[in-house]
Amino acid sequence: MEFILKFTALVIFTNVFGVAAAKKSNKLFDEDVPVSPKAAECVFDKQRYELGSLWTPDLGPPIGILSCMRCKCVPFQKKRRIVARVHCHSIKEQCPKPKCEEPIMLPGRCCKICPGDLSPETAQDILPQNIVEIEQNTNKHFVSLLTSLKANSLNETSLVATGRFSFKENSLYYSFYTSEKAGRPQKLQFIDTQGNILEEFSIFNSTNNPSYQDAPQKICGVWRRLPKGYQKMLRQEKIYAVLVWKTKGQELTISGSVKKNNALESELLSSLLKPEPTSNSIGAAGTAMVSLITNSTVKISVIFNGLFMPSEIANVPIKITLSLKKHLVFEETINILKPASDLNTIEFNVKMSEDNFTRLTKGEMILNIASVSNPQQLKLSGNIMTRATCEMFQATLASSEPGMSWLYLNNAGSLIYNVYIGNSSQPNASLVHANSKTMTEDTSLTLKVQENGWANGTMDKVTPEVLQSLYAGDLSINVATSSQKNIEGRLNVKYMDEARDSAAPVLLKEQSSLAMNSLGMAWVSVDSDCYLHYDVSLEGLKSDRKLELWMELYPIIAPGAPFINKPLESFQGTSIEGSPVEVLTRDELSMLENGVNYLKVKDAGSEVVLLMATVVKVPIPASCTPYNSLDKTVFLDDLPEVVQSDKCFFEGKFHKNEEIWVPANNSCQMCFCQNGKARCDLTTCPELSCTFGRKTIVEGECCPVCTNDSMIVSSAKGPKCVLNGKSYLSGSKFHPFLLPIGFDLCTECYCDHQQYQIKCIRLTNTEKCGNRKNVDINDPFSDDFMEKVRNPQITQKENPAVKVLSEGGCKNPINANKPYINGSKYHPFIDSLGEYKCVTCKCQDGNAQCSRQHCDKSTCKQMYEIKRKKGKVNASEFCCSLKDCRKMRYKKKAN
Ligand SMILES: *[C@@H]1O[C@H](CO)[C@@H](O)[C@H](O)[C@H]1NC(C)=O
Ligand SMILES: *[C@@H]1O[C@H](CO)[C@@H](O)[C@H](O)[C@H]1NC(C)=O
Ligand SMILES: *[C@@H]1O[C@H](CO)[C@@H](O)[C@H](O)[C@H]1NC(C)=O
Ligand SMILES: *[C@@H]1O[C@H](CO)[C@@H](O)[C@H](O)[C@H]1NC(C)=O
Ligand SMILES: *[C@@H]1O[C@H](CO)[C@@H](O)[C@H](O)[C@H]1NC(C)=O
Ligand SMILES: *[C@@H]1O[C@H](CO)[C@@H](O)[C@H](O)[C@H]1NC(C)=O
Ligand SMILES: *[C@@H]1O[C@H](CO)[C@@H](O)[C@H](O)[C@H]1NC(C)=O
Ligand SMILES: *[C@@H]1O[C@H](CO)[C@@H](O)[C@H](O)[C@H]1NC(C)=O
Ligand SMILES: *[C@@H]1O[C@H](CO)[C@@H](O)[C@H](O)[C@H]1NC(C)=O
Repeated sequence: MEFILKFTALVIFTNVFGVAAAKKSNKLFDEDVPVSPKAAECVFDKQRYELGSLWTPDLGPPIGILSCMRCKCVPFQKKRRIVARVHCHSIKEQCPKPKCEEPIMLPGRCCKICPGDLSPETAQDILPQNIVEIEQNTNKHFVSLLTSLKANSLNETSLVATGRFSFKENSLYYSFYTSEKAGRPQKLQFIDTQGNILEEFSIFNSTNNPSYQDAPQKICGVWRRLPKGYQKMLRQEKIYAVLVWKTKGQELTISGSVKKNNALESELLSSLLKPEPTSNSIGAAGTAMVSLITNSTVKISVIFNGLFMPSEIANVPIKITLSLKKHLVFEETINILKPASDLNTIEFNVKMSEDNFTRLTKGEMILNIASVSNPQQLKLSGNIMTRATCEMFQATLASSEPGMSWLYLNNAGSLIYNVYIGNSSQPNASLVHANSKTMTEDTSLTLKVQENGWANGTMDKVTPEVLQSLYAGDLSINVATSSQKNIEGRLNVKYMDEARDSAAPVLLKEQSSLAMNSLGMAWVSVDSDCYLHYDVSLEGLKSDRKLELWMELYPIIAPGAPFINKPLESFQGTSIEGSPVEVLTRDELSMLENGVNYLKVKDAGSEVVLLMATVVKVPIPASCTPYNSLDKTVFLDDLPEVVQSDKCFFEGKFHKNEEIWVPANNSCQMCFCQNGKARCDLTTCPELSCTFGRKTIVEGECCPVCTNDSMIVSSAKGPKCVLNGKSYLSGSKFHPFLLPIGFDLCTECYCDHQQYQIKCIRLTNTEKCGNRKNVDINDPFSDDFMEKVRNPQITQKENPAVKVLSEGGCKNPINANKPYINGSKYHPFIDSLGEYKCVTCKCQDGNAQCSRQHCDKSTCKQMYEIKRKKGKVNASEFCCSLKDCRKMRYKKKAN
């Protein structure tokens, strides 16, 4: 916000002073650029721009498009980092000189042109982010082997990692396995060949479910919206991944080039091969990719380095072994014809029994590759385990009550499942191959469903074939209930992203017949920089339907609750992942954590909600708190403290600002809402002396009334006087309750028992009335009050002031209840002066146009005359000063 304001001021400045200002400095606001959480991205006026974008700024009303300005998102070197910055400059100087005599200025353009010349303006907008580059035959999978480049006092040669990268829709999804010794690194960087940091990610401990995002030795994430330039570097293998640890004041880094790899397409299992702790071979490490060839054979590709003696330059034998608890399962020696200085690749096939196959997927087998000449020192080893890629498998289940499921593999090769089947009685559920209509015979694929419709569990025995089908998206969850047979939900493969860093997804349920038989699943999370992330997948809607994602945030579900309606994104298709440009506000964070929020899918431009999910208790990272200074447990009546709103939350209900009400608990209190704070006063009863009947306390009444026995009965049932939502028994006397003072002890009202009208009198000299003793009759407040009490039926809706304003009247800053009527002329009221006759205003359709009366010759003449006669003149009587008159004279002479 601050930035935008500053910026607006700057632009207005350059606009007004045009070329002159631009000449001084062609660049603007270098220092004021907001920091985008993405290094390679500019954020300008709530829009993201990729590095290299060029655009004409549009500041919206009232300033609009600045046709003479061009903004660019340019790279900027900040020590080792490359960050994107917005540079804007005037293009006026570059305008070509028109060749005709009478050039014209067309709206929306910067330069004058000759009539008829329709050639485009000099600089056109370039928004590379909108260009969809169709890339065929490009490899979308990359691998990296991260090792230390130098040895030091710490034995870090055994600190290694391997990465997997998948490029999809401008995003690079990454995952790493690190050697267990190091613990979790603090940072991940992507650098170029010169060592410049292109992007950096902080690696946090996940706030929630640590089993998938924070699995031991595993790092998952996504680099979104890679600029075109970086995409090219990635294709050319000119990007390096770096993991950074900070220990004991020292920074340890390991790095490796991000390389294309074909074996990743069919990878089923991975391995990180670590050097022996005693090895001092710098850069030694390896990674294996295991894929299935037949139901009894696997292919293993190994990428490695650091197993060669300096003298070994050709035909070097390498020994490979695969073992299961010290028992050898496979052994082979492969000759490397010409060892490469960076990475070497070997491939081999292993035939295995079914039993050994299963143990392979369970991470029990150890792969060893070693130099034949120096097998003790030059050796790499690691167990084969779940593939390094971070994935989630999810499906919706369209049973009578919709359900959902999400599954993932842990490092030990077990499949963790969470399935909600709904309320169906005695359902049976299992994993099946997609489109196979029968329940599987294989009991190992059965899911254990509990009474409450949930099936949460772990499947320990996952065969390579099941794994292969799972990764290929060929598995379904099949549910059979007593009423419905074979409800099937195809398990979609999803890369892990920020939004999936939440404990569980929410189910988007159909809300309208316009979205018949559709369902969805959504993940919502807040990251440590306080940005919201969402990941939504829909089923049952056409993939070309134009949709909008909205979020509605409520502090609590109560009548009149203030809410925030937040548009998230427009999209087309059946899934959307993203994050709003702006960081979440204090209120939004509070509502996400403590309130009730709705995620809504609508048709583009429509108000009809197609699908909706309820989102509650979104964990907020510690770095975003305290967004309020209160305790986490929020008391209902404290809500206004938490939610910035001028509404008041009281007794489970929201009241508008300035609303007056009688609390449900205590009819002898009156409350009003003032800027979000409810204030309640206990009724103060006026003194009462009865001229007839006697002073009685009637049940349900706060103040005593003068009455006799027959009257109590009749009036308790009969009509009453009503003021500000409180009813008064006929014959009762009371002080009215008014804003903003509460009970007005200077006024005494009486509910007339014949006409049921309220009659009031002003008290001028009672003790209670205190400093309000000498209220004059012009007191605007009292006028308004009198009006109200004379016509007690007038409710807020029919308020005459509101009516005048709605008919184009103008606000009266002195008395809000007496606005100026549309078309009327008036003198404004100035505090110290009273009505200021020298200024005349006219109210026209809600706008007041005021003008000051100016000195004229005759007025000045008159003033001089008085001055001559009386020695002085009261200038305010004339709306003109002698000084002004003198000026006028001087001007005339000059002319
Ligand atoms: C992350 O968790 C590990 C252990 O689970 C702990 O040692 C480490 O301090 C945590 N790091 C942060 C930044 O909280
Ligand atoms: C480093 O490795 C040597 C053996 O090569 C070992 O003696 C030493 O304790 C190790 N140091 C650390 C800090 O692990
Ligand atoms: C499986 O591996 C074990 C070694 O642990 C070996 O003894 C056994 O023969 C293997 N089974 C088959 C069928 O290959
Ligand atoms: C592999 O498939 C063949 C035929 O499809 C079958 O006879 C054999 O038992 C299977 N082997 C294993 C290990 O599942
Ligand atoms: C399950 O819920 C649906 C709708 O929520 C309802 O129509 C159905 O009767 C319920 N079935 C059982 C067995 O409770
Ligand atoms: C299953 O897991 C989900 C998500 O973690 C949870 O909401 C649900 O209560 C669990 N159900 C049971 C029966 O434990
Ligand atoms: C679920 O499985 C049990 C045991 O196999 C069977 O008796 C029951 O009929 C099945 N239920 C349904 C709804 O198919
Ligand atoms: C209203 O009364 C109920 C019960 O008499 C009590 O629990 C509650 O705290 C009261 N609320 C307020 C706002 O006084
Ligand atoms: C009560 O007061 C009303 C007038 O206020 C009068 O008409 C009526 O007679 C009185 N009744 C008694 C019993 O005094």
